[in-house]
Amino acid sequence: MEVVVGKLAGFCFGVNHAVEEANKLLDNENGIYCLGEIVHNKQVVEKLENKGMKTVNSLEEIPDGSTVIFRAHGEAESVYKKAEGKNLKVIDLTCGKVKAIHIKVQRNKEDSFILIVGKKSHPEVIGIKGFAGENSFVIESQDDILDAYMEYEKTNLGKVFVVSQTTFSSSKFDDIREEIETNFCEAEVVVDKTICDATENRQLETRQLAKEIHNMVVIGGKNSSNTKELVNVAKEYTDSVYPVETVDDLKEIKFNNISKIAIMAGASTPKESIEDVKIYLEKI
Ligand code: F3S
Repeated sequence: MEVVVGKLAGFCFGVNHAVEEANKLLDNENGIYCLGEIVHNKQVVEKLENKGMKTVNSLEEIPDGSTVIFRAHGEAESVYKKAEGKNLKVIDLTCGKVKAIHIKVQRNKEDSFILIVGKKSHPEVIGIKGFAGENSFVIESQDDILDAYMEYEKTNLGKVFVVSQTTFSSSKFDDIREEIETNFCEAEVVVDKTICDATENRQLETRQLAKEIHNMVVIGGKNSSNTKELVNVAKEYTDSVYPVETVDDLKEIKFNNISKIAIMAGASTPKESIEDVKIYLEKI
């Protein structure tokens, strides 16, 4: 089978930086904790855990005075304070693009109601909301806009500042933005589309490849939101989309009458996984 690998498939620079730094750290230090999975990819997490990293779900699980990694998604302001209270050494690997959103919402929260377009349960969104403070609301879909407006009305702020989760779907954001502007017509609405260009460009390439090649394998963790988004984007153009976590998942799929296939991969998929899938498909 002819295999075309997307140029933008795999680690974005934020994830790459976090994994590289964690690796370097683990070469020199023992007993390093990571708050949450460092990336939404089982294989990458396992590799680092084999080098001694301990993944925990809360700071309470970490002994006082230890070293803790904050991953690329970032954390809420309160988590930094809590870490300080426990005398933890924080290795802050929050992606620069997420940090920039934290700074923007902090700057605007004094005179604006903050709307965060993103998935409510996503760690990055929880972190941004933490910096945005009380006068903020997360909008996951158009259905949330009325509730957001009711919350906004309780404040006496005349301005609304809109940001987005970095890995949110660009087209969905545009639809939501339009409805925000209609529903908040009495307010001064400032929109800052903070979707990361690494995400937007990867979605663009996925769209292009799905359109041209019609068959696509999308590699990424089951809980990776940017990978799920790539699957959705590809499905707009073809039904022949195969989401997999590793090459092993491919072994159950029958590829009948397919002579050419494209590979895309989410921002937390390592190049080894992409290479394994490529080699496997080329042999079919
Ligand atoms: Fe950063 Fe964009 Fe990746 S925000 S973590 S470079 S998807």
